[in-house]
Amino acid sequence: MKTCLFGALALLSSALQATEDTRHLVPMPLAAEVNLRAEMRASLLALNEILGLVAAGKLKEAGEIAERELGVSAMGKHRGQPFDARPGPHMPVAMHAIGMDGHKAASDFARIAASGDREKTIAALPSLTSACVACHYSYRTRQ
Ligand code: HEC
Repeated sequence: MKTCLFGALALLSSALQATEDTRHLVPMPLAAEVNLRAEMRASLLALNEILGLVAAGKLKEAGEIAERELGVSAMGKHRGQPFDARPGPHMPVAMHAIGMDGHKAASDFARIAASGDREKTIAALPSLTSACVACHYSYRTRQ
């Protein structure tokens, strides 16, 4: 009987978790959010290209896209824009740090891919998506 009750409670709490969004809400001016979303779609596109290139054995090209689109080279794209259009300064410190970690991880991946070692490059692929998941599971910009 007791286990049955615990089971029901566990089910109920997981159902509640599914409906309640507990991620931190990070409000941003509209211009910054529009830029953030456009950058995100470009990241997803780059990720897809990188996966295709690695699968085709084109490691050098995969590394180039990783560095240019996702790596440290891709940081500060909106530096020249007005404050309200820059996503970075509107992020909490911890959120921004996840973003920086993602850029660094992509640059590390780019260096591995540039070495031409297929096995190491494939082993490093998950490092490209860790920051995406870490940030998306912790932060959101809309209710
Ligand atoms: C520092 C935090 C952060 C990181 C890192 C991050 N994202 Fe996002 N992303 C966001 C936020 C915030 C949104 C807005 C959606 C929301 O509020 O839930 C978003 C939205 C998106 C969207 C939807 C874009 C649209 O048109 O609305 C895509 C696609 C996306 N991200 C892909 C990625 C991919 C792929 C990566 C990794 C390469 C990544 N993101 C890394 C924070 C992040």
